This record gives sequence, structure tokens and C-alpha cells, in this order.
Amino acid sequence: MSTTTLLFFSLIFSSLPLFSSTTNIHSNPCRSFCGNITVDYPFSLQNGCGHPGYRDLLYCMNDVLMFHIRSGSYRVLDIDYAYESLTLHDPHMSTCDTIVLGGRGNGFDVEEWRSPYLNPTSDNAFLLIGCSAQSPLFQGFPNKHLVCRNISGMSCEEYYDCPAWDLLGHRRPDRVYGSGPPECCAIPFGSIKAINLTKLQCEGYSSAYSLAPLRINGPDEWAYGIRVKYSVQANEDFCRACQATGGTCGYGTDGDRQLCMCGTTNSTSTCDFLMSSLSTRRTSWTIIKSIFAGSLMLMLS
Ligand SMILES: *[C@@H]1O[C@H](CO)[C@@H](O)[C@H](O)[C@H]1NC(C)=O
Ligand SMILES: *[C@@H]1O[C@H](CO)[C@@H](O)[C@H](O)[C@H]1NC(C)=O
Ligand SMILES: *[C@@H]1O[C@H](CO)[C@@H](O)[C@H](O)[C@H]1NC(C)=O
Ligand SMILES: *[C@@H]1O[C@H](CO)[C@@H](O)[C@H](O)[C@H]1NC(C)=O
Repeated sequence: MSTTTLLFFSLIFSSLPLFSSTTNIHSNPCRSFCGNITVDYPFSLQNGCGHPGYRDLLYCMNDVLMFHIRSGSYRVLDIDYAYESLTLHDPHMSTCDTIVLGGRGNGFDVEEWRSPYLNPTSDNAFLLIGCSAQSPLFQGFPNKHLVCRNISGMSCEEYYDCPAWDLLGHRRPDRVYGSGPPECCAIPFGSIKAINLTKLQCEGYSSAYSLAPLRINGPDEWAYGIRVKYSVQANEDFCRACQATGGTCGYGTDGDRQLCMCGTTNSTSTCDFLMSSLSTRRTSWTIIKSIFAGSLMLMLS
């Protein structure tokens, strides 16, 4: 009977709520899922979670992850945390099967404050279609060199082989640049920093990226989408230190200052203070427990 009593007491002790605060520290209140995509630092679906450079950026609608910047909304196809990149899809973007005209595409243009944090990768080709001769793209043409070129082996020359161009019929371009501008012009994001179809006076665009070192044969094998590199740069140290102490990275209500969330408290550095005070509390609690158990044993024997 005495053994049963002891067992009963130890069960009570081990289930006491004091220990649950330890698990609080290690659980991540910010990580979430949208469909089959994991949303984790520096992104988040909640206000106050993640890095402030990515606040109000991602939304989950009916299990579809959406990315919103000033040029429009895109579907997120993938987030690659190892290579720090996102793959986006714009429904009004041309592919090898369809060419969408009428300037309906989003292009890609981010708010100034967000631009240090998001940049299409250097091997992402933007293929601008049907741009007017007055487009800023062709200013200086034909005297100066055309900005259009091939990016990681992807160029308009190859893109013209897509069935979508046959469907356009009369739009199929002659492959030699005559007096007018080319029907398609491929550029990397770096050359103009904003793909704004209105500003560039283009009717449409496509975007493709290469997943090097894969050897791709033709434009029907290109990966269509916008590959965006994300980078939190120097601020990464703050988060790494926070996570190392069991915290979760977030930011304050000013939408700017980074915070380390430590269970029920927020810290401007790490959760170190909490870990040490908790272990002190835990040590004293273990002592009390053994004294109590010891006296119980004495009483029962
Ligand atoms: C900690 O910060 C998060 C994100 O800003 C906020 O939602 C939460 O209320 C804060 N918690 C405390 C205890 O201040
Ligand atoms: C695109 O350019 C047009 C014309 O210059 C401008 O009115 C519009 O605000 C720009 N769009 C974005 C998202 O910057
Ligand atoms: C998510 O699921 C879709 C099919 O439902 C699949 O095509 C896609 O590759 C998946 N994405 C990830 C990141 O697993
Ligand atoms: C694209 O560039 C590569 C080298 O960067 C070159 O070998 C290839 O011939 C170019 N293709 C076209 C169609 O210009």
C-alpha cells in the first residue's frame, strides 16, 4: 500500500504545471502551414511573427499560399529555405503554351522598403513581349546596344519556338531585328529593377528560371515562374541567437524592431535570462520534491 501512495504522489509531482513552461519555450508559435507549404522564419502568416521585412507579405487562402507586393498577387509554388528562395506564379504570365497580352500581367515590382529583402534571382529571365518602340527598354536603340540578351541560356530566340507563338499567327516575329524593336526582349531583373508592364509599355511577359546545373533542351522544358531570392542579411544573427536559446523570432508592434519570443515574455535579445531563472526554479523544486518524498518514506516506514 505504501508503494501505491508513493507512486500516487510522484505522479502528482511530475504532472505539475511548473514543467509545462519548459515545453512552451521550445514550441514555435509562429511556424505554420498553408496547403503543403511550410511557412517559417523569416516568413509568417501572423502579425508579429517572422522578420519585419516580410510582414504583410504572405496570406493563406483556402490552402493556397499567396504573396502580395505592390505589383500584385502571386501564388507561391514553393519556399526553398535551404537556398533562400521563393517560386511564384502569376496567372497572367505567358508560358510556352499561352501568351497573355493586354498588359494584364503583374510583372514584378516591390515597395522601396522591401526591396533589400526580395530580389528575383540573377538566373531568372523576364521575357517582355510586345513592347512599344517608345519603351524605355529601347531608348538609344539601334545606336546603343540592346538591353535584351540571354539569361542562363534562356533567350527570346528559343522562346519563339514555343507553340504559343504559332497560335499568335501574325505575331510570329522575324528573327532578325529590322528597323523596329524585337517582339520579345529577355532581361534579368538586375538590369531594370522593376518589371512594370505599364511603364515599360509592354503587352505581356513571361518569366522562367533555370535550376542549374540541370541541362535544359528547349523552352518547353524551362521552369516558368518567378524565382525570388530572399535575404535577411545582418539581422540573421539576432534570430540565430534567439533560436539557440529556444526562442521564436518576431517583431514588435512598430513593425520594425525584432523581438525574441520566449513563451510568455518577449525579449529584445535572447531567452537566456529565462532559461537560467527557470533552471534555478527547477533545481529548487527538485530539492523540495526529494525532501518531501524522503519524509514521506520515513512516515510510511
Ligand atoms: C510578444 O510579441 C508578439 C509579437 O509582436 C505579440 O503578439 C505578443 O503579444 C507579445 N507578448 C508579450 C507578452 O508582450
Ligand atoms: C507602373 O508604372 C505606372 C506608370 O509609370 C505607374 O502609374 C504605376 O504606379 C506603376 N506600378 C507600380 C506597381 O509601381
Ligand atoms: C504540393 O502539392 C502539389 C500537388 O498537390 C505538388 O505539385 C507540389 O510539388 C507540392 N509542393 C511541395 C512544396 O511539396
Ligand atoms: C546564350 O549565351 C550563351 C553564353 O552565355 C551562348 O553560348 C549561347 O549561344 C547564347 N544563346 C543565344 C541564343 O544567344
